[in-house]
Amino acid sequence: MNIQWYPGHMTKARRMMQEDIKLIDIVIELVDARLPLASKNPDIDELAKGKARLILLNKADMADMKYTKLWEDYFKNQGFFVLQINARTGAGMKAVTGVINEACKEKIERDRKRGIKNRPIRAMIVGIPNVGKSTFINSYAGKACTKTGNKPGVTKGKQWIKLNRNVELLDTPGILWPKFEDQTVGIKLAISGSIKDDILNITELALKLADYLRVNYPGAMAARYQIEEKEDGVALLSDIAIAKCCLVKGGQPDLDKAAAMLIDDFRSLRLGRITLEQPE
Ligand code: G4P
Repeated sequence: MNIQWYPGHMTKARRMMQEDIKLIDIVIELVDARLPLASKNPDIDELAKGKARLILLNKADMADMKYTKLWEDYFKNQGFFVLQINARTGAGMKAVTGVINEACKEKIERDRKRGIKNRPIRAMIVGIPNVGKSTFINSYAGKACTKTGNKPGVTKGKQWIKLNRNVELLDTPGILWPKFEDQTVGIKLAISGSIKDDILNITELALKLADYLRVNYPGAMAARYQIEEKEDGVALLSDIAIAKCCLVKGGQPDLDKAAAMLIDDFRSLRLGRITLEQPE
């Protein structure tokens, strides 16, 4: 399967981000806890060079907790500050401000030495589409926040959300483009629902997912569909179709229907909390 998908105006988006990053002290990057590498664009590491970095493993409520912990350690070992959050409910988000302050300790100290007191930390949210940027901003900023207008030295039109005395957030998130050179990245993004379904072959995706589940989450499909998980590939999807009475005329298994069901069950957590990639 060849997934070719880019948000339009990628070059423009990149240029804008480059400009925005100059204004900020810390880049807060959201990744999907179920696929932290596939949902991370490595270009941001270059773009955000010299800035404090916080990685938020978002949608942690959907991911397998034991792997989320491993991913947290993985990124911490690379020098990032890391938190697990659920932007939808706000779980884990109380810690965000404290970690921002911690990550920007050096900057605060530098300011202090230069006699600058109480200059707020400026933060920017970045992430690929659908990772939860708007949900995070709404939930983090809440209703209590005030938008600050243009300020001298700040590009005209930039809006900052004053979160508290210490932190201001650029109100438009930076949209990163997924990295598609590796086809497995596109497939994981597609399975998770980050790419529109109408440009994808759901049956091919479901075959990949079924094989992954059989190896990494044995018993998950057996429990949901009352199948034996003895075979893989088309035979496995076919077993699911038969077990759930997804049949076409003539009694043959309807693989497309079973595929759509499997993908939907995965996205709706009916197969449990599943992580699609594990750290080395
Ligand atoms: P974006 O700005 O990065 O493009 O993403 P956005 O906030 O629009 O979020 C994309 C989808 O992911 C939304 O669901 C949102 O509710 C969901 N989401 C964001 N964070 C979390 C999280 O931590 N956990 C879970 N389970 N879901 C999360 P949607 O179905 O597109 O919209 P809606 O039904 O919530 O309105």
